[in-house]
Amino acid sequence: MKTTRRNFLHLTSLGLALPFIPAIPAIHAGESNLEWRFGVIPDTQWKTNMNAPFYGTAIHIIDAINTEMIRQGVDFVLEVGDLVEEAFAEAFQTRAQHNKILHDNGIKFYPLRGNHDSYNSNSSVRCGTIIAQYRAAFPNLPGTLGSSGSSPNLPNAAGMTYSFTHKNGKFLLLDTFPLIDDGSDDGKAYKISDYQSWIDTELSKNDHEFVLVFAHKNLLGQNHKDNVFSDSKNQDSFPETQNAFIASLQKHGVKNFICGHDHMYHRSRIKSPDGKSEVQQIICGSAAHKFYLPEPPFLARETSLVKELNRIGFLIVHVNNQGIRIDYHSTEPFGQEKFSPKWEIRDSFTNLFHDSPT
Ligand SMILES: [Fe+2]
Repeated sequence: MKTTRRNFLHLTSLGLALPFIPAIPAIHAGESNLEWRFGVIPDTQWKTNMNAPFYGTAIHIIDAINTEMIRQGVDFVLEVGDLVEEAFAEAFQTRAQHNKILHDNGIKFYPLRGNHDSYNSNSSVRCGTIIAQYRAAFPNLPGTLGSSGSSPNLPNAAGMTYSFTHKNGKFLLLDTFPLIDDGSDDGKAYKISDYQSWIDTELSKNDHEFVLVFAHKNLLGQNHKDNVFSDSKNQDSFPETQNAFIASLQKHGVKNFICGHDHMYHRSRIKSPDGKSEVQQIICGSAAHKFYLPEPPFLARETSLVKELNRIGFLIVHVNNQGIRIDYHSTEPFGQEKFSPKWEIRDSFTNLFHDSPT
């Protein structure tokens, strides 16, 4: 189905670009200055050029977003997966090399794998080889030997599923793609239920004022009906796992689950299958060669808040000791391999750490 700008939907009273950005309450006089920012990049795979210099990763879009990240003074950048179109060494190396401008400005990059980072449709390469190629491009991530942070105590999970803290924030990144070569063609992935005890432990620690949880796949996708719990099209599969996961997020005050995979911006509230708990999901846009359109079925336990289709975007999260503000920036679709973005803030919302800040 051909997509046009008329597919743009905005389910709040906001205009096309926000005329007003909600402020996080100012820090009180005499308190330490904790104002800081970080960025989140959605999927960056690029399909029209699998050879040099692209190697299946959207280097022109990545470079443009990194320039804006630096201009806005972020402390670090996190990507929610599908860094590349096909998993092979040159692709991962190229994606990593285009973080040089970040590193030169003292900005760390925290990647997470997506489905495209886990398979190579052109060869029967084993998952262990793919993981080794990925680790070579993105070494020393939190949870690996000698690094800070934490990973679940599961074979090959170190630095793939991990948590880290930065200032008053904590970040959990969940890899749900093959990590174990069990003899099958694709290898074995851990399920959210395999991670749940580690998630509970990390969320229970008294080492943060706020926490965000990231995965590549969605709790509920608008286009994709496979989700973070299962590759099947049944969005209610593994209901006990879903109930436990969303209940854990709610219990520990996790207000936002941020993901990619669906190549659109969509902010919604999602209830667990048992209806007992709820979290806000942010599908954080597309920085890739393609966009998807919403396709039914849509479940009654999801309430859409803001949706935008067919634009290139990313998130900047602003933090102080009162709360966080998440701004979604996007720009017009681009010409092939030429990209001159004019960024606009198209959604913005604030979460205070306490309902009545003192
Ligand atoms: Fe994906």
